[in-house]
Amino acid sequence: MGPVKETEAKARAVRQMFGEIAPRYDLLNRLLSGGVDQRWRRLAVRLALANEPRRVLDVATGTGDVALLLKRERPQAEVVGADFTPQMLELARAKAERAGLEVSFVEGDALNLPFADGSFEALTVAFGFRNFADYERGLAEFHRVLAPGGRAVILEFPPPPAGLLGRAYRFYFNGVLPWIGGVISGKPEAYRYLPNSVARFPEPARLAQMMEAAGFRTNYRLLTAGIAALHVGDKP
Ligand SMILES: C[S@@+](CC[C@H](N)C(=O)[O-])C[C@H]1O[C@@H](n2cnc3c(N)ncnc32)[C@H](O)[C@@H]1O
Repeated sequence: MGPVKETEAKARAVRQMFGEIAPRYDLLNRLLSGGVDQRWRRLAVRLALANEPRRVLDVATGTGDVALLLKRERPQAEVVGADFTPQMLELARAKAERAGLEVSFVEGDALNLPFADGSFEALTVAFGFRNFADYERGLAEFHRVLAPGGRAVILEFPPPPAGLLGRAYRFYFNGVLPWIGGVISGKPEAYRYLPNSVARFPEPARLAQMMEAAGFRTNYRLLTAGIAALHVGDKP
């Protein structure tokens, strides 16, 4: 398979997988992370809103948790959530309606975002970036759709930390989590994919370098003993 075909095949598989687990996605997130996932998202939102953006894009928005937090924190901003899995977007729209929050959710591929250059002053992506078939391409798109002075915030699971904590975490992530996720979603493959995609993901310092290479001024911090990482990239 050539590189383009391989990228397309990966994107198709990821879209299909998220389409299948969409109905149980929120429940499993809260259950498997003990609720800490929302704390991480709130921090990402705070950093994204630091420069008081007028237009904010949440890429790979899924069921819209980050997009809704953005709108709640900054009601005067126009917030858009984009994702390439229609089943996730339907759930996001229903959540926005229930919460009475005006967020537009649009179908779009992060590697080919359906927005003009410089359309947003801030951009977030939570637990979506790892799934991209081409990280450099994703970063180039983030840079393109941000206006000068704009900020990108990436929240992700880096590869597990070393040491005792890393071992406990690996046991949870490779053993317990795929089991619970498989039982509740009925899609064990999807929850085996999660630890594998995390193990393949670049180390935080490497991701920061990739962001610099894409034109961002970057800093990052590790959260909850390195289980999650938050990268901030400012477009000069
Ligand atoms: C783990 S979910 C994260 C959803 C949400 N951001 C959150 O915090 O819960 C990953 C999402 O990324 C989306 N995704 C993965 N690759 C994508 C791509 N290339 N373009 C758009 N969305 C993508 C999937 O459809 C899925 O909804």
